[in-house]
Amino acid sequence: MTTTNIASAIPTAARVHRFTYAIRNIVAEAQKVEAAGTKVRYLNIGDPVAFGFKTPPHLIAAVERAMRDGHNTYGPSAGIGAAREAVAADYTGNGFPISADRVFITAGTSEGIELALGALVEAGSEVLVPMPTYPLYTAVLAKLDAKTKYYRLDPSNDWMPDLDHLKTLVTPATRALVIIDPNNPTGAVYPRATRRALIDFAEQHGLLILADEVYGELGFEGSVEPYGLLEPDAPIISFSSLSKAYLAPGWRTGWMAIGRSPRLNDLMAAVRKLADGRLCSNLPMQYAVAPALTGDRSHQVSFRKELKARADLTVDRLRRMQGVTCVAPTAAFYAMPQVALPGNKTDEHYVKALLHATGVLTVYGSGFGLPAEQGFLRIVFLAPLDELREIYGLMADFTRDYLSR
Ligand SMILES: Cc1ncc(COP(=O)(O)O)c(C=O)c1O
Repeated sequence: MTTTNIASAIPTAARVHRFTYAIRNIVAEAQKVEAAGTKVRYLNIGDPVAFGFKTPPHLIAAVERAMRDGHNTYGPSAGIGAAREAVAADYTGNGFPISADRVFITAGTSEGIELALGALVEAGSEVLVPMPTYPLYTAVLAKLDAKTKYYRLDPSNDWMPDLDHLKTLVTPATRALVIIDPNNPTGAVYPRATRRALIDFAEQHGLLILADEVYGELGFEGSVEPYGLLEPDAPIISFSSLSKAYLAPGWRTGWMAIGRSPRLNDLMAAVRKLADGRLCSNLPMQYAVAPALTGDRSHQVSFRKELKARADLTVDRLRRMQGVTCVAPTAAFYAMPQVALPGNKTDEHYVKALLHATGVLTVYGSGFGLPAEQGFLRIVFLAPLDELREIYGLMADFTRDYLSR
């Protein structure tokens, strides 16, 4: 009989150590603060429903009806026809011609990103990812043993991509360019000329474009056109979901639209294979996709207005704090201010000290790939205006003390 050491832990995969997602990892710290009796203001997760914005009733009715009608079976791996057709018609109507057979319904944008990257990269492949980035990209690449190559977004230029830096990063191992526009965590929307330059760059190097357009309906001035409109024959995959602009993040329902270029046909077959393996995404929720895209969207008009008011307050209050600068966001519900930290401090130190002193939970910029000494942090400004005023008051007092210590 072999002897085993029952005291030793079951080993875990090394790749998990590289898989980090600061937006949720930091919650453990907040729970300690809460356990010690301080009220925590959770400004870490971009979930509008958690802040009182309501899922449109016609979408809830559609899901309820689907359940009652018995749509509780497995569904087709690529999603139900009605949802795929609605997604295709929506992109096509916005100038990016897509046929329904090139749409996959996924468990949120997140699963689409996993499927696309899973179908694309080998161990050692490189993917160009913005810095700062929404951290799922780096986490998934770590899981796949592929490599993140960060291209800078420039806070001194309204967080626009630094195209000169981008050009220095391409190697024979580069496979794709990730574009998040409108952007999380910066709230930036890129002008057409920048979008054009990004597409041209990707085309020049034969790169797949992964266009994360989950905030496409949440530009403060109205919805933002899809990347595919500029170059429908470029190898573009667009991702979006019901989570943000349709106020149903917990439904885990989204889509990916694969551009019409025949260069994407093999990749699409690979995505299909992976999608078969996970059976299907949540079935009843798929019945809300067509009503969302073809039905009443008036909630988006008021949502955008509410977001703009919160963004204005946020920027105004942050800019009044000594030692704090902030680029004004033009979409979504994030601001990415910078605190002029003393030389020996990190963004994480500031964010945790703020949390412990005031209960205000934000996320440090290094969680989005930025150098820790630069002192960036991300604020989710979805709370009601009165609460935001109170929060920024706490933050101003704390920051004054912190920087004068
Ligand atoms: C840029 C970006 N992409 C993807 C996601 C994931 O969203 P979903 O709920 O659609 O999976 C988020 C969520 O915050 C995001 O900000």
